[in-house]
Amino acid sequence: MVGTAGGNGDSALPGRPPLPGEIADLTDPGNREDPYPSLEKLRRRSPYTPFDGLLVVGRHDQCSALLRDQTMSAARDRAPLSPTPRGPRTRNFLHLDPPEHTRYRRLVTGAFTRRKVDGMAPWIREIATDLFRAAAEAGTLEVVDDLAYALPLRVICELLGVPFEDRQLLQEWSSELATALDPPLGTTGRMTPEAARARAGFVHYFRRLIEERRSAPRQDLISHLLQVEEDGHRLDDDDVLATCVLLLNAGHETTVNLIGNAILALLRHPGQLDRLRADPTLAPAVVEEVLRYDAPVQMTTRVARRHGTLGDAEVRPGDTVLFLLGAANRDPDVYRDPDRFDIERPAAPAHLAFSAGAHFCLGAGLARLEVAIALELFSTFLIRPRLRDGGVSYKRNLNLRGPSRLQVDFDGVHAG
Ligand code: HEM
Repeated sequence: MVGTAGGNGDSALPGRPPLPGEIADLTDPGNREDPYPSLEKLRRRSPYTPFDGLLVVGRHDQCSALLRDQTMSAARDRAPLSPTPRGPRTRNFLHLDPPEHTRYRRLVTGAFTRRKVDGMAPWIREIATDLFRAAAEAGTLEVVDDLAYALPLRVICELLGVPFEDRQLLQEWSSELATALDPPLGTTGRMTPEAARARAGFVHYFRRLIEERRSAPRQDLISHLLQVEEDGHRLDDDDVLATCVLLLNAGHETTVNLIGNAILALLRHPGQLDRLRADPTLAPAVVEEVLRYDAPVQMTTRVARRHGTLGDAEVRPGDTVLFLLGAANRDPDVYRDPDRFDIERPAAPAHLAFSAGAHFCLGAGLARLEVAIALELFSTFLIRPRLRDGGVSYKRNLNLRGPSRLQVDFDGVHAG
């Protein structure tokens, strides 16, 4: 996720000329519902320098190579274009480069091994089944609140050891912080006061929880992070705090959007929903196709460390490189008929929805599992699910993309 600016404005940064057409189109709130025509134009121009200090890349081969390039730094919070000073308490390993990044990431990976994630399947299924039963009783399903927020938040709270009773507060702070993950395009380049307040709220909240777990450890990830040691390296309280905030946000808002984007895509392609219903083992393939077709994290950034060139474009140290993951995932040089949603698409190079290289999403396995279970239940549980007229609206975020409301009608639930 991009850890740079705040806000969603459309005007240029102070002192900068108006945004060029394609970038202005992309940031236009009127295009939230379908940003793909603007992304296509930007991909065609890639690599593209809309203004001094920013290089935009949208082709799959360029994004894939540069995300793995060691001369690209993840310390975007210190980028000249859009610095967002963070205290040690919120500077997490998403913003660190190897070897520091490797050391921190290694201490957390143990919680996300394939075996650990697979072991969570039964209780994730239980939670999701309860949510569908509740919708069945209510006779209506508003996907975003009733399912998409409820499931990942419950899972990440359980994993970390955060009391689920506090979900309202955590959800509010998470949503506010998510707006601060938009890239430095036509914004003030700073955190909004709401996002800064949310960050302070998280710091205060987790500081108290960490103190509690230090004096009385439990079988949860916070307690584990306080004790874990590798090659003599341990996390201090600030590191644990930054990691908790990262996991709670990274592991939550993104998965919410994947569930929303997936159910919307299925409802808009009823033939594909029928295929899934007929063969629920297709659920993991649906998840992959949605990640490609409508990525929940649309972009990320790096800061160039060295002078270089990319095609005709010059890259200078300190330049921000903006990766349009959503554009790369629809690159026609890689995916045949890329704008088509096809859950049985022939094998192709991996999409970039979870990024690539050292910062490849740590929770990819968990997200895939949660969403596959939710989609399998969605396709088999509800009778004749359909999108209500006017039932979709989009979040205002540019980067973390997903519906804010998705109202589904159905005729009942299948027995069993
Ligand atoms: C559909 C759901 C998800 C999507 C689309 C997603 C996407 C991403 C992307 C694109 C990055 C890398 C950003 C970059 O290269 O700058 C990332 C990193 C990360 N994600 Fe996810 N994520 C998802 C779910 C999760 C979950 C469930 C967790 C944990 C519970 C998680 C934890 C992380 C962490 C810790 C990082 C930082 C990795 C590093 O810097 O080494 N994510 N995610």
